[in-house]
Amino acid sequence: MTYLDHAATTALRPAAREAWLAAAEETGNPSSLHAAGRRARAVVEDARERIAAALGADAPEVILTSGGTEADNLAIKGLHWGRVAEDGARRRLVVSEVEHHAVLDPARWLADRGDASLAELPVDPAGRVDTTVLADAITSETSLVSVMWVNNEVGTVQPLAEVVAAASALGVPVHTDAVQAVAHLDVHLHRSGVDALTVSAHKVGGPVGVGALLARRGLPLVPLAHGGGQQRSVRSGTLDAPGAAAFAAALEDAVAERVAERARLEALRSRLVERLRAVAPEATVTGPRDPAHRAPGIVHLVIPGARAESVLFLLDAAGIAASSGSACTAGVVQSSHVAMAMGWSADDAACTLRLSLGRTSTAADADALVAALPDAIARAKAAASR
Ligand SMILES: Cc1ncc(COP(=O)(O)O)c(C=O)c1O
Repeated sequence: MTYLDHAATTALRPAAREAWLAAAEETGNPSSLHAAGRRARAVVEDARERIAAALGADAPEVILTSGGTEADNLAIKGLHWGRVAEDGARRRLVVSEVEHHAVLDPARWLADRGDASLAELPVDPAGRVDTTVLADAITSETSLVSVMWVNNEVGTVQPLAEVVAAASALGVPVHTDAVQAVAHLDVHLHRSGVDALTVSAHKVGGPVGVGALLARRGLPLVPLAHGGGQQRSVRSGTLDAPGAAAFAAALEDAVAERVAERARLEALRSRLVERLRAVAPEATVTGPRDPAHRAPGIVHLVIPGARAESVLFLLDAAGIAASSGSACTAGVVQSSHVAMAMGWSADDAACTLRLSLGRTSTAADADALVAALPDAIARAKAAASR
């Protein structure tokens, strides 16, 4: 199989697998007071310290979660509610239009139930937040600003430093979803200036179902899950020692390889894009041209007339795993909210293709896609005109 969907999930790293198995062999609840419990607790706390070190945070700032979705929800709802509890006048939540649904949907949910007024920041045609609107959008009535580090559909790197500058001038906390950034960019909580940051293990070669919210001390975080009071009552629930150990191992390897891997993927991406332009001239490669403004592993295409679900089905039949990048329910791809925010029509935004490269990608993967895509496009277009 040719796997070109690393942004959806990527291969488990051997070190993560070993760390998971070693911890899973032991029985013990990390909250239990006996020796077995203390051993499990030591595994979790060691992992917490290593995750913190890899991401420029302090160990107490790492709140382990069940993944990126939970961490995003905790940041958006927990921080918004916490800020409103401190000062009821601060009810305005600011997010970008191109956030992952794990940020966008809780933000809209808060607005729908009357807990927040919501401002969604527009983006330019390359998917970058328009920094000229920041000064007007962020005010002293803002509870929280959430702008992702790297967009998961297009790979656009957002102007986080400008967002942080505009928000911190007014004492407004900034959250960033760094799920797609960690494998490729220098993600460092303290240096970035953000107050809270979401990460997920399975995007860096760890297991699915593990993640973290890194939150600076003193942030008013209202818990979403109540129960045993673990993790200073911000996130109750039995701690997942094997998951935490595997996450730490994957993260350390990903960070150690990051610079070399970025250069390798950038070269692979250039080769892929060059060939795609030759075999599929009707496809537009979207996103920033400047490599500094995009993740190296993502190629996002709009192929007018070739609906995503048809192209994906035909590629799958040819042994190629790719994605449209946008949500898919019952086999029908919805128009991508990201592509629409970048100015594409709803029709074109249903004709997207995301190819994402990762640790196990090779030139042969790119070549297999290039060989199969023209036929898939032709057949998808024929199906659409029937
Ligand atoms: C940008 C972004 N945020 C959040 C998530 C959700 O993470 P998880 O799958 O760990 O819940 C994803 C996964 O697709 C993502 O790409």
